[in-house]
Amino acid sequence: MLILADPFKAYIYHRRQLVGAMSAIIIRYPLILVNLKTYEEAMGQRAIEFARIAERVYEKTGISIAVAPQAVDLQAVADSSETPVFAQHIDTVKPGKGTGHILPEAMAEAGCEGTLISHSERQLPLDVIEATLKRAREADLYAVVCADTVEKAAQVASYVPDAVAIEPPELIGSGIPVSKAQPEIVSGAVEAVKRVNPDVKVLCGAGITDGEDVTAALELGAEGILVASGVVKAKDPYVALLDLARAMQRWKPPVVDVVG
Ligand code: G3P
Repeated sequence: MLILADPFKAYIYHRRQLVGAMSAIIIRYPLILVNLKTYEEAMGQRAIEFARIAERVYEKTGISIAVAPQAVDLQAVADSSETPVFAQHIDTVKPGKGTGHILPEAMAEAGCEGTLISHSERQLPLDVIEATLKRAREADLYAVVCADTVEKAAQVASYVPDAVAIEPPELIGSGIPVSKAQPEIVSGAVEAVKRVNPDVKVLCGAGITDGEDVTAALELGAEGILVASGVVKAKDPYVALLDLARAMQRWKPPVVDVVG
């Protein structure tokens, strides 16, 4: 269920059984989505530790943080903390004969709140993106569709995902922040997506490592970030994540003077 409180805050409630108690999972904007990818530093028990780090930073800052572990770790991560958990990928397969495919309903059953679709490292053709989005909705998963160009961002926005994440592939894992190296791709994606559908949120990612990179992204109109190595490979992931969240906490959206 989605309730829009005001332009900058969106609340998504999902109920999830957590150790016999009902628990409400809240995702707000601005949002930090930490993609754990297939990093060794973030698999198995270490994936659980990242979810708990995110929970501590959320408790300290009130900034919404979700994590996307590998599918095999998802249930354990979902059961280990209040941190919202996203799938890195889902398939369009329906319940039944789908050996080896990732069933969206199974991800939701395992405690998943949302999913990435067509990440740069798991790209899908446009027709499959549209079909996957339909399946994500059927499984009640919050859908973040990734795009590598402004044109692609506008295209996938027309399928009405919950959010679009703009990430130029050449900057992914580089430590060179998209919000500083290619600001026009962030502002361009925000403009293009909002022109198609103002309700679709825009995240940006690639090379983001510190609070300054986050502030630059929010100033360009992004409503959150998608981050991986800047947190997963940090000497102290808690400190790195806190720095990103603090920048969001400090952020005050520009006041728009409405004349007349
Ligand atoms: O999904 C997030 C990712 O692709 C960005 O990677 O390592 O540059 O933060 P990174």
